[in-house]
Amino acid sequence: MKINGTLYRTIWPSADNMAVEIIDQTRLPHIFTTLRLENMRDAERAIKDMQVRGAPLIGVTGAYGVALAMQHHASDAALQASCDMLLKARPTAVNLRWGVERMRAFLVPLPESERAAAAWQEAARIADEDVEICSSLGEHGSEIIRALYQKKNSTVNILTHCNAGWLATVDWGTALAPIYKAFDAGIPLHVWVDETRPRNQGASLTAWELGQHGVPHTVIADNTGGHLMQHGMVDMAIVGTDRVTAHGDVCNKIGTYLKALAAFDNGVPFYVALPTPTIDWTIQDGVKEIPIEERAQDEVTHISGLCDDGQVRTVQVTPKGSRAANYGFDVTPARLVTALITEKGVVKADAAAMRVLS
Ligand code: MRU
Repeated sequence: MKINGTLYRTIWPSADNMAVEIIDQTRLPHIFTTLRLENMRDAERAIKDMQVRGAPLIGVTGAYGVALAMQHHASDAALQASCDMLLKARPTAVNLRWGVERMRAFLVPLPESERAAAAWQEAARIADEDVEICSSLGEHGSEIIRALYQKKNSTVNILTHCNAGWLATVDWGTALAPIYKAFDAGIPLHVWVDETRPRNQGASLTAWELGQHGVPHTVIADNTGGHLMQHGMVDMAIVGTDRVTAHGDVCNKIGTYLKALAAFDNGVPFYVALPTPTIDWTIQDGVKEIPIEERAQDEVTHISGLCDDGQVRTVQVTPKGSRAANYGFDVTPARLVTALITEKGVVKADAAAMRVLS
């Protein structure tokens, strides 16, 4: 996608092929800056500190992390150690496990002398595939938006949560890919952007990327969606996901479940867009089986923003001494999901229908 008219991906090999470059998402929307990841530890830190984030991008960064490790030590022990370390960087998005395990399976049979070059190529292949997958699921999803427009014959209002745009993938995004494709095809639409406390990925990242692409949007406080749905101001919701179970339960950024409940109560279709590597075929019950990341309290007790003097500052919003809980994700049961939008088509969120995706 374009930033000020220049085409970017969220991650790319450096010109000297010795490192990987990323957009530092912790500085957006106020400062656009890129970072160079020189080694596996840099990749691990970028994932942990959320300089890169979003399930598909975490998976690709994990794959590049293995490739960076192989440039320095390509032994079996080094491969094992780097995979183990990267896998612990964030617990909920299954794409990290998928990307790292794909690299491990690909590299294990190769002689040590070939691993560095091969790993670099495989990580680039994973990144390219992510772009293809997101573009394709975007096409499928845009048909749903088109159908709504044809029925309604006026602007389609879409609610989204967190950031499942191109910043969360290598390009295009998951939830936002159908929106970009529909917008580019001339369908009039407008996006309600949940701010997504505590880290505000909606307010800071989704609003920024929609703005860069010229898509009409309005940022809303997290608790607003239910009210909008009751007043017919939301035609559909589309969210991304960090892990979908074999039975169609959907884990996504905290607050997604409440939006799904409100959508169900108001007859608003609730779609989940995902690349098929986001499906964890090894588990069935999302509430019982998906590990939910818990992050630091200060993400809740403090907030950052741009001050009038042009500086970004962090301030405390809670009384000193109040404790905070910071669960990163929740699980929306399959029964609340209208359908899954994937690169292989749009399917019902249930075990039987999902078999075509395996
Ligand atoms: O904690 P984050 O910012 O990595 O969470 C991201 C999300 O919850 C996204 O909705 C999800 O990864 C979908 S990926 C396009």
